[in-house]
Amino acid sequence: MNHRVVWLETGQSFEVAAGEAVLEAALRCEIALPHECQFGGCGTCRVKLVEGSVGYASEDGEAGELPMGLSPEEAEAGYALACQARPTSDLVISVEQAFACSTPTRVNATVESVRALGPNVTHLRLRLPEEAGLVYHPGQYMNVQLGDGRHRSFSMASRPDGNSVDFHVRRIPGGYFTEQRLQALGEGCPLEVELPLGNFRLHAEDYRPLVMVATGTGLAPIKSMLEALMDDEDCPPVSLYWGMRTEADLYLHDEIQTWADRLYEFQYVPVLSRASDSWTGRRGYVQDAVLADLDDLSEHAIYLCGSPTMIADAKVAFAARGASMDHTYADSFVFQMV
Ligand SMILES: Cc1cc2nc3c(=O)[nH]c(=O)nc-3n(C[C@H](O)[C@H](O)[C@H](O)COP(=O)(O)OP(=O)(O)OC[C@H]3O[C@@H](n4cnc5c(N)ncnc54)[C@H](O)[C@@H]3O)c2cc1C
Ligand code: FES
Repeated sequence: MNHRVVWLETGQSFEVAAGEAVLEAALRCEIALPHECQFGGCGTCRVKLVEGSVGYASEDGEAGELPMGLSPEEAEAGYALACQARPTSDLVISVEQAFACSTPTRVNATVESVRALGPNVTHLRLRLPEEAGLVYHPGQYMNVQLGDGRHRSFSMASRPDGNSVDFHVRRIPGGYFTEQRLQALGEGCPLEVELPLGNFRLHAEDYRPLVMVATGTGLAPIKSMLEALMDDEDCPPVSLYWGMRTEADLYLHDEIQTWADRLYEFQYVPVLSRASDSWTGRRGYVQDAVLADLDDLSEHAIYLCGSPTMIADAKVAFAARGASMDHTYADSFVFQMV
C-alpha cells in the first residue's frame, strides 16, 4: 500500500510505494532529504516523525531490527532513519533544513597545503573558488569526487572564514583516497568537491552546557564548531572528551589546551584506550569517561562524532543518564561502500 509523506518545514510531499523506504521515494521525486551512507549507518537521514509510524522490515516484508545509526532511545523519542524506514501509515516528518547556508554545489577547489599532523593524520587545506560564495555551518562536511562516480567524505575542520578550509584526514590502510590519492596531492593541485553537506551542526539555539565527544578525526567538525564559539560572550560551558588509542595519536593536544583562553569554562579530557605506562591521564573508552564524570546528562546538549560504534554505545549509555535524544547530535564516520 502506498503512503503519503509531508515534509513539515518545506511543505513538500511525496508518495512512498509499497516496499519503498522514505528516502528512496523522496529522491525518486527529487526531494532533497539529507542523507549520506544509505545503509542505516551514519544517521544523517534522521527525521522526526510528527505524525504516523514506520517499520524496518526489508523490501520483501521480513521483520527487521533498528538500523545501527538509530538507537532504541531515538526510536522511542519519535526519530526514524529515512533510508531504512518504511511507512506503515501516512507520515508528517520534520527535518531541519540547513537554512542560511549554501545548497550543496560541486566546485573545483585548489590544494593550498598538505602536511602531516600526526602519525596517521594529514592536514589538508583547500581553497574554494571565490565566485562560488559557499557558506557552510560548522559541523558540515564535503564530498571529494574521485572522478569515477565515487566520493569520499571529510568534515570541515575550521570555522567558515574566507575561502580556505581545513580538513583532518585519517589514513586508512589500503584506502584509495587517504593512502593513494592524498599522497599525490600537493600545492596547486585541483580537487573536485561537493559541499556543504550534512545536518550535523552547532545548535546555538540549544543553549545548554556542551558535552562534545569525539574519536579520532571526529575532532574535525567539533573543532570547527568550537572555533565558531571562541570569544563569543554567549558561549556555554564546554566539555570536550577526545578518544584516541595512544599519546602519539593526540595530533592536536597542545593546540586544544590553548582553547581554554577563548571558550567559557572549557574542560578538555583526552582519553586513551591503549596508553603507555607513562600516561597519567584518563584511560579506556571515551564514552565511559563521560559517564564516570557526569551522573546526570539531562541538562546537556551532546555532540558525538567519529566512530559509529562509539556513537551507538554513547547514545544508549547517555540516555540511561537522562540525555535527551532531542538534544543529542551525532555524525558517524561510516566509510563509503563503493
Ligand atoms: C559524513 C562523514 C564525514 C567524515 N569526515 C571525516 C573526516 O573529517 N576525517 C576523516 O579522516 N574521515 C572522515 N570520514 C570517514 C572517511 O570518509 C573514510 O575514512 C574515507 O571514506 C576513507 O576513504 P579511502 O578511499 O581512503 O578508503 P577506502 O578505499 O574507501 O577504504 C578501504 C577499506 O578500509 C576500510 N575503511 C574505510 N574507511 C574506514 C573508516 N573510516 N574506518 C574504518 N575502516 C574504514 C573499509 O573496509 C574499506 O573497504 C567521514 C565519513 C563521513 C560519512
Ligand atoms: S543515510 Fe541513512 S543512516 Fe546514513
